[in-house]
Amino acid sequence: MAKYDNNFVDELRARLSLVDVIGRRVPLTKKGQNYWGCCPFHNEKTPSFSVNEEKGFYHCFGCGAHGDIISFTMNTEHVEFKTALQELADMAGIKMPTVQQKSPERVAAENSYFDICEKACSEYQKLLFTDAGADALNYIRGRGFTDEMIKKYRLGYAPKNNLIANKFVDIKQNNLLATGLVRRGDYGLYDFFRHKLMFPIFNPKGQVIAFSGRSLDGSEPKYINTTDTELFHKRQTIFGFNFAREEIYRKNRSIVVEGQIDAIQMQVHGFGETVAPLGTALTEDHIALLCKSNRNIIFCFDGDGAGQKAAARACGIVLPFIRDNSDVRFAFVTGGKDPDEVLKSGGTDAMNKIIDDSLSLIDFMWKNVNASFLVSTPGGRVQAEKFLSSELKKITDKKLQYEYEQEFKSREFNEWRKSKKSDVLNIKVPDTDLVTKNTLIYIVNKFENLASQYAEFLASLNISFDADAPDLGWNEKQAEKFIVSVKLKKYLESLESELKAKIAGRINGEFYTNEEIQELKDKIAGVNSKLEKLLYIE
Ligand code: UTP
Ligand code: MN
Repeated sequence: MAKYDNNFVDELRARLSLVDVIGRRVPLTKKGQNYWGCCPFHNEKTPSFSVNEEKGFYHCFGCGAHGDIISFTMNTEHVEFKTALQELADMAGIKMPTVQQKSPERVAAENSYFDICEKACSEYQKLLFTDAGADALNYIRGRGFTDEMIKKYRLGYAPKNNLIANKFVDIKQNNLLATGLVRRGDYGLYDFFRHKLMFPIFNPKGQVIAFSGRSLDGSEPKYINTTDTELFHKRQTIFGFNFAREEIYRKNRSIVVEGQIDAIQMQVHGFGETVAPLGTALTEDHIALLCKSNRNIIFCFDGDGAGQKAAARACGIVLPFIRDNSDVRFAFVTGGKDPDEVLKSGGTDAMNKIIDDSLSLIDFMWKNVNASFLVSTPGGRVQAEKFLSSELKKITDKKLQYEYEQEFKSREFNEWRKSKKSDVLNIKVPDTDLVTKNTLIYIVNKFENLASQYAEFLASLNISFDADAPDLGWNEKQAEKFIVSVKLKKYLESLESELKAKIAGRINGEFYTNEEIQELKDKIAGVNSKLEKLLYIE
């Protein structure tokens, strides 16, 4: 373990309030000399965890946990001593005396890399506003970037010819190479970024450590990023974090989008807490970085298959990080758009709507598992259960893991098994409506497309589609309209019976809030109006 000056640790203790630091995770109330809360190190309902600000330590009378600001950070964040110090230093706004550990040569080299990146960034910035950069400037303006944004995010232009290799001649070649800005070829050094719109990538302190260059002539790949260097580790760097950091703390949440232009547009449209991973898929390190401030993350992915896949991946990565007070959500941008386009067409309101419609972690996992396995069959249900249980093992907080397991058990029972049973018992539904049944049989046998598109729903109806049905002479549109209306009616039936059950339950003393009941009523009204609209579609 690196040695840290006792002065530094003392300074941390002096600068930070223990009550503040602990209070971020544990709600505390003052009683007498001490503050009290529920112990984060064991599970309890009545507070036996005390914090003594004056003496600088906490003590739990329930489990005996005891320590100071540093051990608290180490044990709640599950980080080592050095990382805990770094986090506390960040919180206190003071610098870690890390320089002590590095050799002077290494420090000099690093400083030189920072200088080179900074200098390159300024050169690119200047070039954007010259004739050479006209294409890039027009392009980015066309994407809705104002000059103010260009300046703030320090966008630039890397010219077609070598800039760094030719102009930075008084800098040691090895240092230039180490920044990834140039490479060595048969005829000497050449620039890595040529004819690109340049986005500098900053470290959390706001120093330029790398670049992402967007192609301007439609050539592939669309973006190239600096390959990993001593300053830049793609897996650990999140685009926009230096700008978003304070807002993530202030708003007590972060938003993760897929692209860097999306992140910038989000930040300037009132979502300052937005960041984006860089080309690589999201990593644990990215999440760990965000979780330093809080564990409330909204993932905002495209509504397509790739977005669903990315969301499922993000879900697997975020699970170890969740705690009992985390709010992790999944928002989907539908209509083949990305956040940039949503903001352009519908502004902040449209984006807020997407965020409002986001799914909680539990709801997302449930939806994902139902979409990924054939849960209408016993085998599919077993696969789904196995998948869920292996995912839930990733939750490190055992109590929370247990609660999640229980939640899914109850959903599995209510939505898979109970509803199956009532389908069987309640033979009335298909029988009452012979016309509907025959119409569906006709549709399934005539329109293969529709049969496969609505396979899951059709299978759930318990109809034997091998039967003969009279030819109605419909076109595909009519047929689809019919299926959708049956589907909506089914949904309506289930909502109505849920409402009935809840209202009856209330009479029997079960607790449902007015909001819950109203929400159901609103849903019912919504489905009704959809049904009505459907009738008028030609
Ligand atoms: P997208 O393909 O969704 O690009 O990739 P985008 O952000 O919408 O790009 P614009 O709006 O057309 O400029 C999402 C992110 O993946 C990375 C980039 O960071 C991009 O922002 N990416 C994409 C790459 O690193 N390389 C690529 O070739 C493409
Ligand atoms: Mn885009």
